[in-house]
Amino acid sequence: MNTGTLHHPVMLPQIISALAPKDGDYIIDATFGDGGYSKSILNHANCFVAGIDRDPDAISRAHAKMQEFGNKFTILEGSFSNIERLTENTPFNRPDAIVFDLGVCSTQLDEAERGFSFKYDGPLDMRMSKKGESAADVVNSISESKLANIIYNYGDERASRRIARAISARRAQKPLIRTAELAQIVRSVLPRAQKGKSDPATRTFQALRIYVNNEIDELCDALLASERILQEGGILAVVSFHSIEDRIVKRFMRERAGLSSQPSRHQPFQSDIKPTFRLSPQRPISPEADEIKINPRARSAKLRIAIRTAAAAKKAFNKHEMVRGRS
Ligand SMILES: C[S@@+](CC[C@H](N)C(=O)[O-])C[C@H]1O[C@@H](n2cnc3c(N)ncnc32)[C@H](O)[C@@H]1O
Repeated sequence: MNTGTLHHPVMLPQIISALAPKDGDYIIDATFGDGGYSKSILNHANCFVAGIDRDPDAISRAHAKMQEFGNKFTILEGSFSNIERLTENTPFNRPDAIVFDLGVCSTQLDEAERGFSFKYDGPLDMRMSKKGESAADVVNSISESKLANIIYNYGDERASRRIARAISARRAQKPLIRTAELAQIVRSVLPRAQKGKSDPATRTFQALRIYVNNEIDELCDALLASERILQEGGILAVVSFHSIEDRIVKRFMRERAGLSSQPSRHQPFQSDIKPTFRLSPQRPISPEADEIKINPRARSAKLRIAIRTAAAAKKAFNKHEMVRGRS
């Protein structure tokens, strides 16, 4: 069942202004979703767009929705961490811009059968690609301490141990298979949500979704790949929705722009290593109040933009430091 909310592309005017599409450009929309960004980019200039998504439903939507653009638009099914392989031997292998709009779309969240949301009862699934281990597989099989760590690290949830203990007690009786069951367990552990505050289940659902979809590794690998393939002057634009994602994007961009105050122990700053990006602007862009009124899901969005320099791409960074390390 789809509960029917419309998908609003987040910060669309700011994205178009950041990408500034020009005739002949090759632009990668690494999170095609409902195609909001792709369509708008193609309507702005006589350019070419490749959309990437790992959700087979998004791929079907692309085939149906993007026909009007003919050979100006290409859809590629896969994970954005594989952006190099997905675009190799195509003109998109040296793109003019890459845009990421991280996380899930309203379309996925509002589809109860996908199991992403605590608001609707559905199977505890959460797999963007519809392949691999589902959230039910995870909550019913991994150790209580690992579950607590996931909820703590990916949900910033202080009650992670109590939640993991309650899940463990419940699954000892019968496996957890529905989103409503999981939401009810979390709510039974945490005090009721106050008016205006988010549902207590929000952080646990976010944590499981990040784990099931390997979102942290995906993001780190995609940023590194973007650095390798963007041409000089190419634009990297990333919209993130929670502090864990934003911290990674911020640290990556600042480090690559030579601005990090404390260089990595694993990759000490060397004066002969030239910045591979410059930040433009230096600070993240947030949505306007009017947008948040129409689309409350935009409220936590942050857009960060960086421009590729001519310097050679650097080596990989230490992922642990990017996620948890010093600011
Ligand atoms: C927030 S939506 C993008 C919405 C899009 N900007 C629009 O205007 O319609 C994010 C999309 O990215 C996809 N996605 C998330 N992580 C991905 C990954 N690692 N690889 C490929 N697609 C991913 C999701 O399946 C989802 O369709």
